Amino acid sequence: MLLSRAEGVHVWDADGRRYLDATSGAFCAQLGYSRPDLVLAMTEAASRLPHARPSLAEGEETAAYRRELLARAGAPFTRVVLTSSGSEAVDVALKIAHRYQVASGRPERHRVLSLAGHYHGQTLAALDVTGWEVRRAPYADRLGPRRSGPAAFCRRCFRSLVYPDCRLACADAAVEELPAAVILETVPAAGLGAPIPPPGYLARMRTLCHGAGALWIADEVLTGFGRTGDLFAWKRLVTRVDASGAAPDRDAIPDLVVFGKGAGAGYAPLGGVLLADRVVRALEPDGFAHHQTYGGNPIAAAVGRAVLRALVDEGVMERVRAREARIEDLMRSLDVEPGVFDVRGLGFLWGVELAQDEAGTPFARAKRVAERALEECRERGMLVHASTGCAGGDAGDLILVAPPLVAEDEALEEMAATLRAALAATSLAGTR
Ligand SMILES: Cc1ncc(COP(=O)(O)O)c(C=O)c1O
Repeated sequence: MLLSRAEGVHVWDADGRRYLDATSGAFCAQLGYSRPDLVLAMTEAASRLPHARPSLAEGEETAAYRRELLARAGAPFTRVVLTSSGSEAVDVALKIAHRYQVASGRPERHRVLSLAGHYHGQTLAALDVTGWEVRRAPYADRLGPRRSGPAAFCRRCFRSLVYPDCRLACADAAVEELPAAVILETVPAAGLGAPIPPPGYLARMRTLCHGAGALWIADEVLTGFGRTGDLFAWKRLVTRVDASGAAPDRDAIPDLVVFGKGAGAGYAPLGGVLLADRVVRALEPDGFAHHQTYGGNPIAAAVGRAVLRALVDEGVMERVRAREARIEDLMRSLDVEPGVFDVRGLGFLWGVELAQDEAGTPFARAKRVAERALEECRERGMLVHASTGCAGGDAGDLILVAPPLVAEDEALEEMAATLRAALAATSLAGTR
């Protein structure tokens, strides 16, 4: 596709055709397009100080962004390393985990465990910890041995167990050695279509990691910056209550939080890693430095500040929480459509898994079901994301939607109606 312009929740191609952008670009345009405040923030920063050499100095905008982000993230985070993408931020987190283990007297600890179906980015180090086979497979010869445990994916439980009787067996099976770190997407999106980990899962992960002397790295690249109704998905999930009214994840705070995408809202490349204070202090004797030419760039930082202002001061995150029931109703109404196996998600992040039958038998890959559904959406003027591999290997078809967080009810209704029509046109009932 060749795109020429964008406004609000729509983009236009070079032929003048308008599309509802139901995935916020690459899951990042949280505030929609053509926001004057973001454009102004960029132009002002560009005319005042477009660049400061990271190994020597820091621009004022960047210093202010650090302060403001740390204040919004809250305790125990006391340091942030800035990058210009999510993949680089994952690399930085892996480097920090290594330095942390060295500083803790365990230099031999270098294995980082990850989870099946979880995606962590495109660089070789990020692919190395990616458990989503579709992305790993083309580079398997260049990567280390696969080290991913089972994901918290109840609809396709690795042992066909049922929560809560499963007693979170997936978490126990995932952390079964003494790793340097465990990395997980708080809500695994691109590869698994946003299954929500059950109550107690994050707390179990934290206990297992700390018991093993490992860092818990929360990859919030896709789920951060309002996507699930809070600054990060883990912040949202720790407030959940279970059937007994308790909040079992209450104290489940990651050691490192990796972010990207929505931090720059599609206007500027901005990512990074938040470090909990105990990690910062452990690194102190030798320090930790990661300097890249554009990491913490002042223009990106100025955008980051404006994004934080909008998310918090304009109440965009509350808005997501207030509209969550509406988007959930709309998305779950698709559950009865032929070929829909599961609808899952939270906030403004939803996945629709397609399968042959109620047991979840995946369609033959040769049918290209997800790709065809995406094409049907596009023909109806809507952009969605198609993904494969959620049922293992390259099997399983998913459609993901994640509209801009400012989308009005009308756009959300159009999104669900278009998806319904597109799925009908994909003729899933007759596909075998
Ligand atoms: C969870 C997660 N981590 C990391 C990345 C990589 O981010 P980037 O594309 O900015 O390198 C992505 C991108 O989709 C992602 O979804």
